[in-house]
Amino acid sequence: MNAVGSMSPAPPETGTPATRPTSGGLQLRGLVKRFGDFTAVDHVDLEIPPGGFFALLGPSGCGKTTALRMIAGLEFPTEGRIFLGGQDITGVKPHRRPVNTVFQSYALFPHMSVIDNVAFGLRRRKVHDARAKASQVLELVELSHLADRRPQQLSGGQQQRVALARAIVNEPEVLLLDEPLGALDMKLRRQMQLELSRIQREVGLTFIHVTHDQDEAMTMADIVAVMNEGRIEQLGPPEELYDQPETVFVANFLGKSNLIEAEVLGEDGPWLTIAAGSAQARLLSDRCVSRQGRLLVGIRPEKIAIAPVGSDDEGRHGTFADRDGEVWNTLAGGVVSAMTYTGVSTEYQVEVPGIGSVEVFAQNLAGDVLAIGDRVSLRWRAKYTFGLAGDEPISAGAEVEPG
Ligand SMILES: Nc1ncnc2c1ncn2[C@@H]1O[C@H](COP(=O)(O)OP(=O)(O)OP(=O)(O)O)[C@@H](O)[C@H]1O
Ligand SMILES: [Mg+2]
Repeated sequence: MNAVGSMSPAPPETGTPATRPTSGGLQLRGLVKRFGDFTAVDHVDLEIPPGGFFALLGPSGCGKTTALRMIAGLEFPTEGRIFLGGQDITGVKPHRRPVNTVFQSYALFPHMSVIDNVAFGLRRRKVHDARAKASQVLELVELSHLADRRPQQLSGGQQQRVALARAIVNEPEVLLLDEPLGALDMKLRRQMQLELSRIQREVGLTFIHVTHDQDEAMTMADIVAVMNEGRIEQLGPPEELYDQPETVFVANFLGKSNLIEAEVLGEDGPWLTIAAGSAQARLLSDRCVSRQGRLLVGIRPEKIAIAPVGSDDEGRHGTFADRDGEVWNTLAGGVVSAMTYTGVSTEYQVEVPGIGSVEVFAQNLAGDVLAIGDRVSLRWRAKYTFGLAGDEPISAGAEVEPG
């Protein structure tokens, strides 16, 4: 592996890269890494298909970098195997793996021009046409016009793109990106996220992008693996993780969730009826981790409609079906206790007797913003409700500091 963008210059390369497998992605099987008594990566099984944009998302210290370092060959697993294209690469030396890494700190060779930085690895390997190949990749990252500059004459975002070009030019099977945008300010970060997605689509390499930023993972990746304390909590396309979280950690770490303690009362076709305080509600049993006992029932804040008492919703409690057969859950008797106006939307805290505090995000469609103390009713399409294990700590993932 060539540690492109690491703090120190790239290590000398010896040998030739492993023969490139013709197909197949990356597989982690039962991967464990212990440092003394501490388990940093705890039985991770992952199947990463070739040619996609894969994100590993989780809070600081959850084991993302350790997992990446094992894929790169910089750390040897305590247990488990790593396969690339069906080949076991667990024991393969870093520089013989068709894997490159781009780190957050992308120190380039300061005394070399941009193009020479990019061509460096190729020249070391005595690759024919190093300069022409480097030029092509510079075009891809839209830096051709700055090819003769020195790194210190570039902005942070431009330097990051040079680091990326240095990795891509080696045509690795897999590109590992460890918080590569971490040093950039928010605006540049957003811009580079789009750039990275475009570049990944154009080159078609497998990107494994490590981040603690949920927006970044959601906007860039085809598949996101949410990691917590060394384990994969859930894996799937961003919409699926958001729409149907399977653990409290995922429900709270990816966006916000209202989680309400409830008890299953009964089952009726695809529906479960649950009781929470004095209210009853319905949810689809296939969006629920269990069909009986205690549950944490979840609903995303933007799925809830808020209406002042006095409108059509007044007095409606529990569950009802509208004329189109859509099933709604309703909570009546709420009072707005806090609100944050953000322009496009308003975020309300509503105290509901017997339930507690419910968060609602309302789009300011007509500008009719409510006020603290207003009495309101809440309703949402029952099909958006999800059910999680009742014994999970309700704030898991909500209070973790971003890495
Ligand atoms: N060489 C090491 N020796 C002992 N403990 C280590 C070592 N490397 C990592 N750890 C520990 O393993 C855990 C996971 O570290 P890792 O760097 O993988 O986290 P991370 O998810 O990348 O976090 P961040 O988002 O802050 O970069 C941490 O608690 C860390 O302190
Ligand atoms: Mg890390």
